[in-house]
Amino acid sequence: MNTRILQPTSANILRCATRLGRGELVAFPTETVYALGAVATDEAAVKKVYEVKGRQSDKPLIVAVAKKSDISGIAKNVPEKAKMLIDKFMPGALTLVLDKADCVPDAVTAGGSSVAVRIPDNPIALKLIAFTGKPVVVPSANTSDKPSPTLASHVLDDLDGKIEYILDGGASEIGIESTIIDMRTDPPVVLRGGGVTVESIEREIGPIISRTGAERSDGGYMPTADILFSAYYDGMAQNICKRADELSQNGNRVVILCLDGNADKYGERKVYAVGKTYSDYAHNLFAYLRRADAEHIDTVIAEGVESDGIGSSLINRLIKMSGGQII
Ligand code: TXA
Ligand code: MG
Repeated sequence: MNTRILQPTSANILRCATRLGRGELVAFPTETVYALGAVATDEAAVKKVYEVKGRQSDKPLIVAVAKKSDISGIAKNVPEKAKMLIDKFMPGALTLVLDKADCVPDAVTAGGSSVAVRIPDNPIALKLIAFTGKPVVVPSANTSDKPSPTLASHVLDDLDGKIEYILDGGASEIGIESTIIDMRTDPPVVLRGGGVTVESIEREIGPIISRTGAERSDGGYMPTADILFSAYYDGMAQNICKRADELSQNGNRVVILCLDGNADKYGERKVYAVGKTYSDYAHNLFAYLRRADAEHIDTVIAEGVESDGIGSSLINRLIKMSGGQII
């Protein structure tokens, strides 16, 4: 199969919607990362998603709809707090786990009784789902051995020859995936930190339980390079330099992920400067991890960040990918 990157004209979005309706897969942008879409109620199409991604069959898929009133078509018993979050954050980088409606096939939920629901905040994604007229699964459009794609070209790197079309929406605005919250218990439980911060959720519905440590790995991407994640403290850069030098002396190719403003603290050592802010760090993280793999880096040392706002989602991601190797 020839894979083509399409500009997101209405004609092309409609063409992709038709493909989805016929049981085929299409990749498209969302505000978090690129998605590999298939019609959620089409069991055969959903099975293809697992095949193409090389994904374990016990890992359920998120389902996207285009508007709030469509949520009741795929989920039931929506609690009051979930309704509040839907009102406040959807469309947006928030995914809610709810009781599934009968029409959602087992292939989507990995046999479970819950479904994870989101409304992406991206006009191309919303148009595509609306044109399709059905709920669409939205896993990240990478193969399981790669980080989530934040550019159409990343999707092409992973899925060339496996799908027909990739809609090009430029760089993903946020760059890390959606925050996932299980709303079936009270207080609700955060399963994955992401684009919407825990603080902003707690401002709406009060305390939620966080269980997003390394032990709760979602079996997602693990980079080829070893990741060491630094705690955030005064003198962090000094300690990172020390570790980088030890590793280099032992023949490892090392790169330091740091904020632009800290780059000169690392002297002549190899750095990837990820941007000025924590949002930039999130936005660029996966692209730099792809680059580290391409450059055969042995160890990535990631600078620590403060644990508020998007910083805590970054910490969540980096702890997971480091397998808990904190320095
Ligand atoms: O931002 C995002 O959420 C992106 C964009 C493309 O939509 N998608 C994404 O999908 O990150 P994926 O498949 O790469 O990660 C989905 C995560 C997995 O960890 C999966 O276990 C969890 O969501 N998940 C899906 N359904 C679930 C459910 N019913 N209960 C608990 N976790 C669920
Ligand atoms: Mg993923």
